[in-house]
Formats: sequence, C-alpha cells, structure tokens
Amino acid sequence: MSNHSNSAKEKKLAELRSSLQRHDELYYRQAQPEISDQEYDRLKSEYEQLQSDLDPLGLFTGETGQDAVSNPQVSFEVGDDRLDSFKSHNHAEVMLSLDNTYDQSEFFEFDKRLQKILGQENLSYVVEPKIDGVAVSLSYHKGRLQQAVTRGNGIQGDIITQNILHLTELPREICSADVPDFMEIRGEIYMEHDEFLRINQAREDLGEPLYANPRNLAAGTVKLLDPKEARQRKLKIVLYGLGACQPQKYFKTQTSFHEALKDWCFPIVEFVKTVVSAELAWRAISILDKLRHDYAYPTDGAVIKLDSRDGQRLAGHTAKAPRWAIAYKFESEREATTLEDIILQVGRTGAITPVACLKPVQLAGTLVARASLHNADEIQRKDIRIGDQVVVEKAGEIIPQVVEVLIEKRPEGLAPYLFPRCCPTCQTSLSRIKGEAVWRCPSQNCPDQLKGRIEYFASRGCLDIENLGEAVVGQLVDSQLVTRLDDLYRLKTPQLLGLEGFAKKSANNLIDSITRSKTQDFWRMLCGLGIKHVGMSASKDLARNFVDWRELAEATWEDFTAIDGIGEIMAESLIEYFKNPVNLSVLESMEELGVLLKKEHADQLNQSWEGIVFVLTGSLEKFSRQDATQEIEQLGGKVTSSVSKKTSYVVAGPGAGSKLNKAESLEIPVMNEDQFLTFLEQTKKQNREN
Ligand code: IVH
Repeated sequence: MSNHSNSAKEKKLAELRSSLQRHDELYYRQAQPEISDQEYDRLKSEYEQLQSDLDPLGLFTGETGQDAVSNPQVSFEVGDDRLDSFKSHNHAEVMLSLDNTYDQSEFFEFDKRLQKILGQENLSYVVEPKIDGVAVSLSYHKGRLQQAVTRGNGIQGDIITQNILHLTELPREICSADVPDFMEIRGEIYMEHDEFLRINQAREDLGEPLYANPRNLAAGTVKLLDPKEARQRKLKIVLYGLGACQPQKYFKTQTSFHEALKDWCFPIVEFVKTVVSAELAWRAISILDKLRHDYAYPTDGAVIKLDSRDGQRLAGHTAKAPRWAIAYKFESEREATTLEDIILQVGRTGAITPVACLKPVQLAGTLVARASLHNADEIQRKDIRIGDQVVVEKAGEIIPQVVEVLIEKRPEGLAPYLFPRCCPTCQTSLSRIKGEAVWRCPSQNCPDQLKGRIEYFASRGCLDIENLGEAVVGQLVDSQLVTRLDDLYRLKTPQLLGLEGFAKKSANNLIDSITRSKTQDFWRMLCGLGIKHVGMSASKDLARNFVDWRELAEATWEDFTAIDGIGEIMAESLIEYFKNPVNLSVLESMEELGVLLKKEHADQLNQSWEGIVFVLTGSLEKFSRQDATQEIEQLGGKVTSSVSKKTSYVVAGPGAGSKLNKAESLEIPVMNEDQFLTFLEQTKKQNREN
C-alpha cells in the first residue's frame, strides 16, 4: 500500500469519524437523527473496515478485552446520551452496545468464533426481540428500586428515575424472599405506536416540529426536565438483561434470568426462545421476524445471546460489545420509486411542509404515494430532485420517508430543487426564525392557514362541531363565505345551499351544530382559537384562572406565568395573540354574535366531582379512555394514571392487572364500567335538577 493511498484513507477515516460523531450527537443527545439506522450502520461498517485496513492489529483502537472502562474509545463506540442538566451515575457493570449484522453468514461466523473461544460445539442460545427504544439500567438494592440510569457513555449515565417512576407496571419492590443483595436489571424504555401518533398529532395541532419515530420520542421523554410533563406521555418498559449482580451465585443462564423476571412481575419480552444450536437459533430468528409486527413495541431485529452465564464471562467483550451476543437486524422495509413531484402543504400555523409525491409503491403491506421530506434543509442536504429515483422507508414502521436518492440512477438534466420563496397558496414571502428548520407563511389571510384554523376550531378536542369537516371547510373558505372564525356564526342556511353536497336538511344540520357550539365550555373556546403552544391542558388551566376573554386580553406576562402549567413560552405567545387587533376584533364580534367566551355559571356548578380522583384501568367497552376522561373532567374530577392513597375510585374493565391489585391492597373502591356509567348519569341528573 503506498503512502499516498494511505493518506487518502486516513482522510476518509477522519471524515467518517466526524460524520459518525455528528450523527451520534443527533441520535443520542438530541433525539433528532437525520439519517435512518440502516444508513448509520452502513457508515459505521465502512468506518470499521477502513480502520482495520489501516490498523489490522488493532494497536491504536484496541480490542481491550475486560478493561473497556479505562479505554477512552468506548464513549465513541457506544455513543453518549449524557446531558449537563442531569446528575450522572456510574454503572456497576459497564453497559455495552451490541455488534450488529444484517447478514446470515455473519451470524454463523459469530457462532463459529464463540465455539472456538469456548472450545465447545453446539452452543445453547436465547433468541429475543431487539426492541427499538432507549436503554435503561435499573439498580435494585435488597429488592428495592434505587435508580434508573440511561446508558450514557457506557460507563456513566444520566439519572432519570423521576421520569419513569409513574410507570406502574415497574415493580418498585421485588416480592420474593430470594433476591440478590444488589442487581442491575437492564432493559428498554419504549413508546407504543398509538401514543406516538397521539403526541405527534397534538404537536402538529400546536404547530410544533414532529418526532420522526417512537424511539426518538421515548428518548426525548426520558430526558425531559419536568417529570410532570414526562408523566403525560405514556412510556412503557420491558426488561431483558442482567448487569452487575451480588452475590454472583444467582442465574446460571439467561433463560433462568428471564424466568426470574417473570416471577417477579417485571414486564418482559413476549418472545424468549432457548435453542441448542445456531441452526435452531436461525429458525427462531425467522419466526420472530414474522411475529414481531404484532408486538406492542417497535422491534428492529433479534438479539441472540449465549445462554450460559459462565460461558458469557469466559467469552468477555471488546471495547464496544460482548463477544457472547449479537444483534441480527431485520432490513426495514424500503423500496425505490420515482419522485414525481414535491408539493408544499401549509399548516394552520403557516408552517410549510414539503411532501414527496411518488409513483405508488407497495411498502410493508400498504400502497405508498406520499412521503415525508421533513424540511427545506433536508431536501438540500440530500440533493433531492424531482424526477429522481428515491428510496422510501417506513420510519418506526409508520410514516413513510424519503431516506436516500439513487444518484447513479439520476436521469440527465434534472435541475436542483429550489425551495420556493413564496407561499404556494397566497404568494406571501416565506420567513423563518433563526435556528428553526421550518419556513412559514406569515400572512394572516392565507386561505390554507384559515382552512386549518377552522378545521382545528371545529375538531373534537375543541368545539366539536359536527358536520364541519375538511371538505366543507374547504368550500366555505374557497367561496369566501368564511374569511375569519367569527364568519362561521354569521352563516345562514340559504348561503349553504349553493355549495356542493348541501340540501336543505344538511344545511340546517350544519347551522344547528354551529349554533350549539356557541355555549361550549370556555376552555374549548380557548383551545379552538389555536394560540401557538396553547393546547388542551393549558386551555383548561387558563379557564380555571380567568373568567372571560377580556380578562385574558388584559393579563400580563407575570399573571400568566404565575399559573401552574403555563410556562414562559406559552405566556409570550398569549401576550402576542391578545396584542393583535385582528384577533381582538374576531373575539369581539364572536361575542356580539352570541358566542359564550367566558366561564358560564353552569360550568362552575358542574364541579360536583371536584377533588375526586379516578384511575381507569383495563379495557373500557362503552367509552374510549379519552371520552371517559372528558366526562370526569367536565364534572371537575381528575384522572391519574397510577393508584395511590389519593385515588378515590378505580374504574376497572376486563384485563385490569396490577392497578386493580394495588387498589384492592389499598382498599380503594373499585367499580366496573356499568357502575361508573350509573354514577355518572346520577351525578349529571342531580346537576340538572339543581
Ligand atoms: S442485550 C451487553 N437484549 O440494543 C448486552 N439489548 O444495539 C447488550 N436492545 O444497548 C444488551 N433489545 O439498548 C439486549 N433483547 C435485547 C435488546 C437489547 C434492545 C438494545 C440495547 C442495546 C442496543 C444495542
């Protein structure tokens, strides 16, 4: 090898190292990765290949065996999620990563290597799902939970106990006479798809940037500084591994550790298959690939672990990963197709989202014709051009994304994509706040924004106006019957008759639903106004503290921030909103048109469940959780997620588990769904009679 080619390789190695470091920072610390896991894995394997070409004996980058703790390389090898705002904690046993492969033959090579190290054939393995979440280490002293710590740099992690204490499925105390004195139980914090969609929907409604997938959202949540905020996002946990354990006599095998976790009532993975050879492990991996789509947690592969813990100790580990385990990653489903166009969607806050229009392609069981392109910077960074062949992947298996351009397949003469400078709907020049990736249309009169604002105003979580969906709103705005929110309350039946799909009856129905909304709760009105950063829970906080919109309009920044639940950013946004003369004129004329923009007497009378705290558990059949919560809150009651001495009632449906047991042990009254319904109806009846 000539010095010349060596120095080119060194240059490339340095480039790859700095690129990997940047992606590590984005993934671990900021929970906002720019590339998919597969792209990252490819970069990393290119880096490792180059590194071993240049340093075949590993003299400078070190296979350090057991002394990974003293090796400065380790933090790069396993990433680093530590943030200054958290207290750190040293792991009793180093928390390593796993070697990855996408290749069947590499899996069998792993087995051969291990056979050689241990001098034994037909090794027994355990095959488990690889959960795509955030690694956590829980320390238990004499069976009591002490601390939850992130992986950090493998040696030292951040203490996040406060942000996961509300996970009721996690035993604080192990109920068994035979527990090790000290134990680090390792596992994964994750978020279910439904919760991910719920939170992203709320963020979209508030005009805030979306999380790309459930893993990033889980990672962002465990690192929230306010545990109250973390509690509002439903995280889950699953445990699968043992770190340090004193005394060491416990658990001869990984299988027996799983059994102990199950006996101690920890949430465990659904699939734990113990097999007696690599061939059978391979079969289990294939079965797992079929079953995993039905699991509640996102999975991206299988982890294959040597079953014998003595064998594990003998095999040891490198600076990065154990030699006794490997992750076989499933290729996430991706397909190449043509990018036919890029369209820009305008949200109700003016945020411009570029969307890829694709030649439809089959992906993970659905036909995909649209995909996310994130923002203008992303299009430029990937140099995405209309007419390109692009690779589309389902991130977190939900939202399709354009992950890569096949440059080698680029037809000649394609022009670079120039992100428009003007709003596609109203032609106003776009603007963007320094440091933000999103371009926005600043116009108050943009028809697309208006459509979004009205749809949001009418949505179930706000005014809940029946019959006022996307198609109707589109017609009302396009025909200029509605140019501001207050125009809704000026509509008359005959005006609607000219619109598509409207006959006398449907027109009357719409006018009736709009009229009914005039007396909706004050908090719903506030929420419906779509004030930036002010969602449902902030609107409820505001409605509790102000009697009408005029009082809000006169409030100062200090008045707002003094309210529990209203932060500085929200206060600024409220001041901004009520400073705007257009907003004030809309509110004034809504009031003149009979819209109740204040706390109604009935609102206050209805607080008959004030101070009553409910916990809902198991599945409810007649209500959705959201509806039951709404009913309780409308009567002034509160719903919390965990059972404690402060709980007044537990409403338990089929499938209720640990919460029901806890309620029984604390002697808290439990009712079934029918009993709850009767209680609800009786309370409402009494309220009406009063
Ligand atoms: S065992 C030393 N088992 O994947 C053994 N890890 O890419 C390492 N992971 O850091 C952990 N599911 O956060 C193990 N069933 C499973 C897992 C699993 C997910 C995560 C874990 C690890 C990462 C490595």
